[in-house]
Parts: sequence; C-alpha cells; structure tokens
Amino acid sequence: MEDIPLSRRRVLRTWSCGEGPAELTGEKQAHHSKSLLDLASNDYLGLSRHPSLIKAAQVIMNKDGVGAGASRLVTGSRPIHHKLEEELASWLGQESVLLFPSGFQANIAAVIGLADRSTTVIADRLIHHSLLIGVKASGAKLKRFAHNDLNDLERHLKLLKNKQSKKKPVVLTESLFSMEGTSPPLKAIAILCEQFGAELLVDEAHAIGTMGNKGQGLCHQTSAPITILSGTFGKAFGSGGAFLATSKRMREYLLQTSGAFRYSTALAPPLAGAALAALTLIKSHPEWVLNLQKRSEHWRCQLSSKGWKCPSGNGPILPLILGTDQEALFCQNQLEKAGLLSVAIRPPTVPEGTSRLRLVLRRDLPNGTLSKLLNTLKPQ
Ligand SMILES: Cc1ncc(COP(=O)(O)O)c(C=O)c1O
Repeated sequence: MEDIPLSRRRVLRTWSCGEGPAELTGEKQAHHSKSLLDLASNDYLGLSRHPSLIKAAQVIMNKDGVGAGASRLVTGSRPIHHKLEEELASWLGQESVLLFPSGFQANIAAVIGLADRSTTVIADRLIHHSLLIGVKASGAKLKRFAHNDLNDLERHLKLLKNKQSKKKPVVLTESLFSMEGTSPPLKAIAILCEQFGAELLVDEAHAIGTMGNKGQGLCHQTSAPITILSGTFGKAFGSGGAFLATSKRMREYLLQTSGAFRYSTALAPPLAGAALAALTLIKSHPEWVLNLQKRSEHWRCQLSSKGWKCPSGNGPILPLILGTDQEALFCQNQLEKAGLLSVAIRPPTVPEGTSRLRLVLRRDLPNGTLSKLLNTLKPQ
C-alpha cells in the first residue's frame, strides 16, 4: 500500500438530519452545535426526507422486504422493479430502462456494454471516475477531448476515421458536470456522433430531476440519437440506485452479458419504491424544477454582481474556484461558522490549483440563504 500524502487524506464527518428541511447536524461540529444548512449534498429537490418517499419505501418494505436477496436473474426481481423501469422509460421517451444498484455500477456496465479491447473511447477530459473505471475494465483505448469542446471531439473522430478502425468509436460525456456545473453542447455532440457512426453514452446523474423542461434531463430535448443514458436515484430523486435508459436491444444485451447487472444483488425494493414516488412527485410538480432553475440563475447573477467570477453553467451546481486547498478550506470554515455547509473540493477530485467550494442549490433552501453567503464570503 502506498503512503497517502497528508494533503490528499480525507476524514469522514458524520451527519444527522436537522429539524429544518435542508438542515444537517454534525456529530462533532468544529465551530458550534447548531445545524448547518445543506449547500453540499445532491439532494437537489429535498426529496430524501419527503413523506411520500418514506411512505412508499415503507409500503414496499412491508411487502417485499428490505433487500432483494439475490440478483434479478435469480430471485431478486420484484414487481416494483418492472413498474419503475416502465414508468421511467416512458417519462424519458426511451425504449427501455434497466435498473442497477448504483450509478457507479451502471456506468461501468454501460461502458463495458459498448466497448472492448478493439474499441477507441473518446471521453470528455472531466468525466466521472466510474466511467474511467469502465474504460479500464473494458480494455478499450482511451482518448480525451477538451472539456465540452465540440471541435476537439470532431478532431478526434476525424483522426479515427482516417485510421479506418472497424469498431465503432464510443463517446462519453455528462449532461451536467458535477464539479464544474457545466453542460456540453449535447445536441451538436449527438449529431456529430451520428455523422461519424460513433456510439454516445451520456451520464445524466446530476441533470435528471434538475435540468430540461420538466426535469427530464438534457438528452430528452436532443432529437439526435443517444445510445445509452445513465441516471441515478441517489441525487435529485432522493433515494438510491440507478438506471440505464437505452434501446430494447441494448437492454437485452446488457441483461444477458453485464456482470455488473447479473452478478449483483438487485436494487433494494424500498429504494425502488421511493424512486417511483419521487418520479410521481417530479411529474406532478414541474414548478419545482423551474424554481430551482430560476434560483440557479439568480444566485449566479448575485455572485457576479458582488465581484465573484460567475460560476459556469446554468444548473444548480455553482463552483466557486478559489485556487489552493488552504483557500478553499478557509472559505468552508467561514461558511460553517455562519451556519452554511459547503464542502471544499480539492485534488485529486479536481485538477491541481482549482480547489473550490461546490455550492449546491436545493428546492427547499430558506429565504435569506444567499445573503448570508454573500455577507460571509468576500472575493479575493
Ligand atoms: C456524474 C456521476 N455519475 C455517476 C455517479 C455515481 O452514482 P451513484 O451515486 O448512484 O453511484 C456520480 C456520483 O456520485 C456522479 O457524480
């Protein structure tokens, strides 16, 4: 085992739910004993504690137990899995959906489903670690294109075309990058992939439930084909588990071949029940997504009017790039003293010299949160 330098070591902090909807209480609070307002988790819609999700999980748990007890191919498949897959596919306008116990696992399965040792994968430079692990496990050759840069992607696709590789290339991107807050020109990427005969895998982990007209993510409004869309229930859906949305043919291929699906205990039924309850709520409250989008815009405007560099992107993730680890940790501590929780994100999660506070907006933040933040932090 390698020695891990002190600056790279992280410690686990433990949190309980506070009394207010967006509050977390740390067991060993550094500065005070009060709850902190959650500007750090991915519970964008505040659904993880919503009574409908809790009730739905309880109902399914009473009927089908806590755990599935086996892989879907053995005895783990429950009616709630099929129902959730059908409802999701129809909401996303996709032919079919296959559930996974986590997004990390789903991403590995998706990459291995599309690529093997004779494939070249062309991935955005900032894609999630799980996708990179998928590429490694597939044995594919990896090329990286500059973040959200259509021209650089095209350059890679042209180079590959000239090499006349027999296997279709695979392009990997995300629709809302979790540490950058940015989104790619997805429609143009999809059209480019179609032109060059490339497969396209889009990770919508942070965009499902937060972006697009009614929270259906950004693939939904992209008329060009997307081979596989990956999503998770652990973020805006307030539950846990994940899914791949794809053609019926690809779903069947994954079901027959994916070790990550076949040799893993099925998604816990109560989590599937809660995810379905979240979907029902999101469908019946389009204003939630709209309000979150308006709040994201308002926060960006206010931050830049106070001298901060406007956080990139237009979704609910607002990175304040600070530079060194020390600067980011100092700001995190300042915010905690003021009752706000935002976590300093440091290398290796983000490139060296770009340590940042990752501000995450939620539907249920109380009024006055932004002024508290602006009064506490001052740009350098
Ligand atoms: C972009 C992205 N993809 C995939 C995952 C993995 O999802 P899960 O938390 O369901 O394993 C994460 C999350 O943590 C993520 O940020």
